[in-house]
Amino acid sequence: MLLAIPDILSREQALAMRAELEAADWVDGNVTSGSGSASVKRNRQLPEQGAVTQAAQAQITEALMANAAFLSAALPHTVFPPLFNRYGGGETFGLHVDNSIRFHGPSGARIRTDLSATLFLTDPEDYDGGELEIEAHSGTKRYKLPAGHMLLYPSTSLHQVISVTRGERISCFFWLQSLVADPGERELLFDLDQTVQTLSAERGKADREVLRLTQIYHNLVRKLAQV
Ligand code: NI
Repeated sequence: MLLAIPDILSREQALAMRAELEAADWVDGNVTSGSGSASVKRNRQLPEQGAVTQAAQAQITEALMANAAFLSAALPHTVFPPLFNRYGGGETFGLHVDNSIRFHGPSGARIRTDLSATLFLTDPEDYDGGELEIEAHSGTKRYKLPAGHMLLYPSTSLHQVISVTRGERISCFFWLQSLVADPGERELLFDLDQTVQTLSAERGKADREVLRLTQIYHNLVRKLAQV
């Protein structure tokens, strides 16, 4: 599952958040590194405790939980509190894989990372470099989305952030554990749900076949989800 989801935040919301975050106190990005990735990571992050960080976390979490495409694609069980990173002046995060298990100190939560996400808070024309490059079986691709858009990608992938050579790239990133651990099963459920939504818009929710497909979708989730 590799999916670009538009408008998690509106462009205006994303840029307003970026302006707030920009003025906060940033620290070395290696505070959240797994043991394997510290050596290739050169960027800055926002400490989790700050008021600005927490307000932005709350706004993004609320937006995620109201976004039908995100919920359908990710089937989130536990979302790690969103973090924020910043790359400028040649900063980069070299090729790595995200840690399989993440511990969240403040809450004591422990999650298996199934999906990783980057929510872009900077317009692409405001910086050079800074693409998120992801290796997949279908080939390696680079992503640089508009402010407010989010890329959801498998935490199992090798990926990197290309060096930023002009301007600054500020983004939100997080990991999540899905209710459905198997990526193939999760993708089938997503395909089915998208089809049900399309059919439902055409025929109405009360249509007999739409109801039947909705029932099948939920019964499949019952079978495959680990709550
Ligand atoms: Ni990563």
